[in-house]
Order: sequence, then C-alpha cells, then structure tokens
Amino acid sequence: MWCSNMKALILSGGYGTRLRPLTYSQQKQLIPVANKPVLFYAIEDVIEAGIHDIGIILGPNKDQVIETVKSVDWDANIEFIYQGEPLGIAHAIKVAQYWIGSSDFVVYLGDNILREGIVNHLKYFKKENFDASILLCEVKNPQRFGIVQLSEDGKTIKRLIEKPKVPPSNLALVGIYFFKPIVFEAISHLKPSWRGELEITEAIQWLIDHDYKVGWTKVTGWWKDTGKPEDILEANRLILDDIKTSIKVETNARIHGRVIIEEGTQIDENTVIKGPAIIGKNCIIKNVYIGPYTSIGNNCVIENTEIEDSVVLEDSKIKCGGRIVESLIGRNVKILRQHNHPFGKRLIIGDNSQVVL
Ligand code: TTP
Repeated sequence: MWCSNMKALILSGGYGTRLRPLTYSQQKQLIPVANKPVLFYAIEDVIEAGIHDIGIILGPNKDQVIETVKSVDWDANIEFIYQGEPLGIAHAIKVAQYWIGSSDFVVYLGDNILREGIVNHLKYFKKENFDASILLCEVKNPQRFGIVQLSEDGKTIKRLIEKPKVPPSNLALVGIYFFKPIVFEAISHLKPSWRGELEITEAIQWLIDHDYKVGWTKVTGWWKDTGKPEDILEANRLILDDIKTSIKVETNARIHGRVIIEEGTQIDENTVIKGPAIIGKNCIIKNVYIGPYTSIGNNCVIENTEIEDSVVLEDSKIKCGGRIVESLIGRNVKILRQHNHPFGKRLIIGDNSQVVL
C-alpha cells in the first residue's frame, strides 16, 4: 500500500530529562531497544503503513539524529526539520507546517513503540474521513497518563485530561495522532500551558469543542512510551519476547532459548546464555552468564560477570565479578573490579546517575 497523500511527522526532539544522565550526551530516541534505536521502530512502522514522506523533528542533538537516520537506506523521502527550542508537541507540528502543506498526516512521537503498528488505525482514519483521530490504550494506572472521557454512547471523545486525580476512564492517549491540516488552525489558537509548552491535547480539545470530527481507535497489542529508564527495560523485554534465534558466529558457549548473536563476536566456552537475548557485533564475552531479557550493544567486552534483564549500550566494558540486573548502562561505560586493598567501592559517576550497591 502506498499512501501518497499522507505524510508522517516523527518527533525526535525534546530534552529527555527523565532519561538523564544518558540524554546529556545523546538524544533519547536514539537509545537502543533490542539493539535498535527506538526512533527506527517509528520510521519502520510508518513505511510499513505505506507512508514514504517522512519529516523528522530535530531538537538539541540534531546532528546525531541526522547521522543515525542517514546510516540506513530507508524506502522513504526524509526531511529533517529543526524545531529550535522544544516548546511542545503542538509547537513541533506548527514548525513543520511549511513541509506538511495540505496533506493529511500522522504525528508519531519518536520514543513510542506500538507492537501492532499503525496500519489499521490509519485505515479507519481514512475510511471515516475524520479531521483528527487518536489512539487509545487501556492502562492500569490512569493517574499517570493523558486520559480521555468518552461520550455516553462511547462513540465520540468529550474531553482529554492530563494525569487526572479521579480518572473518568482507563483509556490513555497514545503518542500517535492522525490529523487533517485543520489542526494548524487549532494550534494557532493555543497559548503556552503552565509548563510553557503548546500542548497537543489542547489542540485536539479545540477541534472537539469546535465540532470537528475527532475519532479514536483502541490499541489491542502493547504500546510503550520509553520516557523513563524502567520503560526502556520494559520495551526491551517486550521486543525480545518476539525475536527469533540467529547466531552468526561459531561458539562453544552453552546457549538456551532464543538468542541473536551478530558477526565478529567472540564468546568462550565458559559462557552461558539464556534467551531471549541479543548480543551485537564485535563483542568479546568471556566466562559470563547472560540471562533472559538482556541486550548488549556492539563492541562490548564482558568478562567474569553475570548480567540479566539489562540493556548495555555499545563500546562498554564490564569486568566486575558480580551480578548486574535490571540495569541500563550507557555508551563507553567501564564497570571494573577493584583487586587491591582497600576493598571499598571506587565510583566515578556523572551528574544524575543512579547506582544501587
Ligand atoms: P516528552 O517525553 O513529553 O518530553 P521530553 O522529550 O522533553 O522528555 P522529559 O519529559 O523527560 O524531559 O516528549 C514526547 C515526545 O515528543 C518525545 O519523543 C520528544 C518529543 N518532543 C519534541 O520533539 N519536541 C518538543 O518540543 C517536545 C516537548 C517533545
């Protein structure tokens, strides 16, 4: 399916403060889940849905995003759009108006992953000829999300409420929205909110209040917004749950379950790997236990360590003799063991890091 009259705007800006310290040095949408930048899941999804005109909103680390996106030969025309200061999702859409023009479009937050993809949601938006259509997902803790209140018959949306104390439903607003260009008019009426941003929820509410046709579809599989470290770990588990075994190297290691091992990686016979797990290219793994739900990036060296349910980014070295669990470890990190006296922990840790000893 080629959706020639439809564009996709993928947001890869924002400061990502909740993912510090990783986001001091890199844009959050580039953090890998199962060794693939989160942003790539969004790009692949819109291409899969037949949309081949993609605008990518850039923020603080714009050159990094451009370089990473350009490292892949996408089946799409990609336009990079610099937002300047990240002044909200609706602001990012406004900045992209020159590129969107008169097309219908989908806005996709670049840190969101939707397992089932957008195809069916897009079809419904087109079929019903909505002015806007949003995706809703049932959540267990609606106090922590943007929640909708539906009309009595459940057909239309009455109200969007950000993090309600008394939630009118458990239907959370997913970070994927379909719009006709009328949304630019809605945004032109917005004022910055208490947090200084142009809020997308207010733009959608404006459309509802002015009797535009705003539809909704329900997400049936899982949806993950990877805004916080625990969300990255959870997304990693969900993606690894679906992998198939692919071992591209010779090794005498003991391997159980579904495991991906990329080219150039050396794994000795004293290593045990229990999938689902993924190990990137050119790693050296010696005398290690790698437990379920672990992703190890390219060029890592891991020795004499147990690691489980964790994400390790590329170029890191872990030789700690201990057990690492539920951890998110950045690029080029060293975790080593102290061999000499005194046996206290020696720590060199940047601002806003978190270590549980
Ligand atoms: P958020 O996660 O709400 O904001 P953030 O990225 O600034 O993170 P934090 O709250 O931890 O500081 O943003 C949702 C998505 O939209 C995310 O992918 C970043 C993107 N975004 C932009 O591209 N431009 C913006 O102005 C804002 C606010 C977000």
